[in-house]
Amino acid sequence: MKPNASNSGSLAVVGLQWGDEGKGKIVDLLAPDFNAIVRYNGGANAGHSVVVGDERFALHLIPSGVFRPACTSVIGNGVVVDPAQLLTELDGLAERGVDCSGVVVSDRAHVVMPYHKVEDAARERALVERLGIKAVGTTGRGIGPAYAEKVQRSSAIRMGDLLFPDIVRRRVRAAMAFKGPMLERWAPEALAELEEDSLVELALGWGRRLAERIADTSILLHRILDGGGRLLFEGANATLLDVDHGTYPFVTSSNSSALGIGPGSGVPPQRVGRVVGVAKAYQTRVGAGPMPTELTCVIGDRIRERGREYGTTTGRPRRIGWLDLVALRYAVRLNGVTEIAVTLLDVLSGFESIRLCTAYTLDGRAMEEFVPDAAALDRVKPQYEEIPGFSEEITAARSYQALPATARAFIERIERGVGVPVTMIGVGPDRDQTIHRTGEIGGA
Ligand code: GDP
Ligand code: IMO
Ligand code: MG
Repeated sequence: MKPNASNSGSLAVVGLQWGDEGKGKIVDLLAPDFNAIVRYNGGANAGHSVVVGDERFALHLIPSGVFRPACTSVIGNGVVVDPAQLLTELDGLAERGVDCSGVVVSDRAHVVMPYHKVEDAARERALVERLGIKAVGTTGRGIGPAYAEKVQRSSAIRMGDLLFPDIVRRRVRAAMAFKGPMLERWAPEALAELEEDSLVELALGWGRRLAERIADTSILLHRILDGGGRLLFEGANATLLDVDHGTYPFVTSSNSSALGIGPGSGVPPQRVGRVVGVAKAYQTRVGAGPMPTELTCVIGDRIRERGREYGTTTGRPRRIGWLDLVALRYAVRLNGVTEIAVTLLDVLSGFESIRLCTAYTLDGRAMEEFVPDAAALDRVKPQYEEIPGFSEEITAARSYQALPATARAFIERIERGVGVPVTMIGVGPDRDQTIHRTGEIGGA
């Protein structure tokens, strides 16, 4: 066997719900043990928050390990990159004194062009206003149209293409030839802004500014591995938004579970040893789609306010629900999760009792399996187990034993429900507001 053919030193951090589980905080915490932090999917639809001392950062394209100077930050080939957003993010971080010299982007990552964002908004608007169909509730970042263009092939632009004026012009011309008539019908007001020469100039300008950072990141990652280094893969969006395994069609356009790591980075799956699944102590969801445990009452409002549950990317209020163990079990299995980080546990203090959904019923029949289909999931009824809540604030707790017994019982109920240990517990957004536990179910 070739040395290093399997490398259990690398790790993935993936969201187990509908996004915003606190992946950014967990990646930042774990990053010092890794040589590179790798984004492999999604684009600027992601909003990952990292709190460093008194400062709060929101990252959309740049990996959350950027605050750890020894880590290389890799934007892999599976990401769709809006170069304007990337440059804004790089400039914003530099202004705040963050060293971004280690940020590289794959030459094979696809470019989100202005027409993708126009199309994203136009489709959403047309669905509702002209066709009477429920919109997906996208972030408007052009994600779906950019991935569609990638799969269509001949009119797509990759980051490496930005260095070649002829290629850019040909692709822009092809893209606009197809999109022009469609946008003429659905977004005529925006069409005037999408003129070929200015689009080409814009793209080439991005290429000039980003040239030094554009590289074959797949080779870079393999070199790190072959040298005995370790990679941390940072999932964006989350498992239940995965285009193949999420609540289709209310999903994003990439494989946002750990299953996307191979195609999105060029690193084969056996190189990933540990998979840390991140789950909130409750559910949230932004945008449309089924959510069996949704709370549309004052309890939901209270959790939203305590947890500051407003989108990092769009500012939209997040929908809130009780923790769904059926969905969590599904996500654990799908990702090969080896351990869980439960975040925002502090938000649940002050409730007399807490609920967990342990099963569904559909048309009166009991179901223990999640249903990754929006229409079917919309019809399930959650079955709850109610356990005592905890009244104490826990934001200052730093050890598992310092948590109230009822909070520990909640964590251990999750472990029993999904069959993997909870090794980290978030009790606040700061780096040190994290409890680390041994890797055994029911451990200290
Ligand atoms: P991501 O997209 O998964 O990285 O998550 P977001 O950054 O979009 O949303 C998570 C929010 O919760 C951010 O505002 C974090 O600062 C915050 N957060 C993370 N962990 C905790 C925690 O344990 N407790 C509290 N109260 N906030 C947390
Ligand atoms: P992070 O990485 C929460 C949701 C959108 C919408 C659907 C499709 O911060 O957890 P898109 O713009 O991707 O076409 O929208 O997916 N969505 C997210 N929700 N957190 C995210 O990322 C999300 N990325 C996409 O709200 O419902
Ligand atoms: Mg987020």
